[in-house]
Amino acid sequence: MTELTPKVVRTTTLQDFKNKKQKFSCLTSYDHLTAGIFDEAGIEVLLVGDSAADNALGYKNTLPITVAEMIPFGRAVAGSAKRALVVVDMPFGSYEGGTDIALANAIEIMKATNAGGVKLEGGIRSVEQIKALTTAGIPVMAHIGFTPQSINTLGGAKVQGRGDAAEALIADAKAVEEAGAFAVVLELVPAEIASEVSQMLSIPTIGIGAGSGTDGQILVWTDFAGLYPGTPRKFVKQYANLREILFNAASTYRKEVLASEFPNQDQSHQ
Ligand code: KIV
Repeated sequence: MTELTPKVVRTTTLQDFKNKKQKFSCLTSYDHLTAGIFDEAGIEVLLVGDSAADNALGYKNTLPITVAEMIPFGRAVAGSAKRALVVVDMPFGSYEGGTDIALANAIEIMKATNAGGVKLEGGIRSVEQIKALTTAGIPVMAHIGFTPQSINTLGGAKVQGRGDAAEALIADAKAVEEAGAFAVVLELVPAEIASEVSQMLSIPTIGIGAGSGTDGQILVWTDFAGLYPGTPRKFVKQYANLREILFNAASTYRKEVLASEFPNQDQSHQ
């Protein structure tokens, strides 16, 4: 089968990928430089995740980040990406209060960042917000399974949809599709259930900790690049060890500065 190689990735392109059974890749990004690198590498979707809260701002989890804090990240990524579809997360508190607040915040995000869509968490509980946004012309990516903004009610980052809970997960998946979401993230879901949901839905599914049966995959870029110390979570594959590279670079730089080896003659203006 010939591979689809679109010049620009749109929400409809993800549907074309799904229809052609062509997988696609997604990464989070929060800044101009990584967005440019990932875009050039062909990553199809760049998610300006609210994981910027812990990854860029150093918060304990994703709950504290605000719309005002998300906007500069979204603007930087959308301004850098030439090909990838850029989606900006709606942070906790920006949509749960009802359709009016959700719409006002989504419009603010779309206007300020020039992104291609927004993502919000929740299945059946977010259906009215998804309908309101899509009716207003704002593409919505849904997010079900483990939803980090509900970490306090879910009791930690736990796998969702196991055993009897599979029925509720499937109902959430169907609900977001019917409400008009263009894609849905399945986070921390048993591989078999994620595969079943992916076959059941017409819209693309994007997995994180959900096995290989989803239409696309997403990783948080700091996880995939190995920036965190210690053992990565089970579902993460580290494609680089940037922590070690940066640590060694910083140590060498410091040593050379202290020994007056940097800057040398070549690095100095005469
Ligand atoms: O904010 C984020 O990084 C996300 C991904 C985990 C999908 O929502």
